[in-house]
Amino acid sequence: MDLLTNIWLHIQEKGLVRTLSIIFNRMVDFHFDFKYKTDTRNKISLHDLTVTGENKEHGSFYQPTMALSFNRLLERVPLPPESVLVDFGCGKGRVLLLAVLRGIKKAVGIEFSPELCAIAHNNIKIVEQATGSRLDISVIEGDVTHYEIKDDQNVFFFFNPFDDVVLEAVVKNIKKSLQRKPREIAVIYYNPVHSHILDNAFLPKNGYIIGGEEYMLYANC
Ligand SMILES: C[S@@+](CC[C@H](N)C(=O)[O-])C[C@H]1O[C@@H](n2cnc3c(N)ncnc32)[C@H](O)[C@@H]1O
Repeated sequence: MDLLTNIWLHIQEKGLVRTLSIIFNRMVDFHFDFKYKTDTRNKISLHDLTVTGENKEHGSFYQPTMALSFNRLLERVPLPPESVLVDFGCGKGRVLLLAVLRGIKKAVGIEFSPELCAIAHNNIKIVEQATGSRLDISVIEGDVTHYEIKDDQNVFFFFNPFDDVVLEAVVKNIKKSLQRKPREIAVIYYNPVHSHILDNAFLPKNGYIIGGEEYMLYANC
């Protein structure tokens, strides 16, 4: 299918305004990779990736969060002080980079595809060289269900990375961590397909539509 047919089908399905907004967002994404010489774009099916652990069939394919909408979100969302962000299913690390470049103190990504982890590590190195500063970003290879949440982590980001089974397990780990170390947190769920799980676990604070993209914000108090 050629590009124009694709755009025409998109307009019919989502409307003109949403389609134009997505095209503009894609241009900003292209600019991010062009500016830093990173590789954060393009969808990748999990069938084309190696995966560590037993949850491949519960996971979503790689697709990056749109840079413009994420940056706008960060301008609007009240985050706890000394924010340390965790991106569950961080892919090529775009959210980690955007967060730290926007002033978030520290970011940690967990990703079960070794290929995507390698690309994320490389992207971080490239942006560190381009900006001449060391970025406090770590990428941990593994399944999110095995990740033990640290006491300083207080902003939890999900871009619809997996189904309800895995989401339940991660939410349980966040709750366990809060019992061990009570603190203020924010949970951001982008494209909130399984929002009922977070609705039952946390306090829904706000919903945002930014550039046609839906985000839900939750807190624990
Ligand atoms: C929709 S992409 C989001 C990428 C990134 N968070 C972003 O917003 O740019 C979802 C990612 O979650 C990863 N993923 C899915 N299930 C996972 C699991 N159980 N453990 C670790 N990573 C997982 C996929 O490999 C994919 O890279």
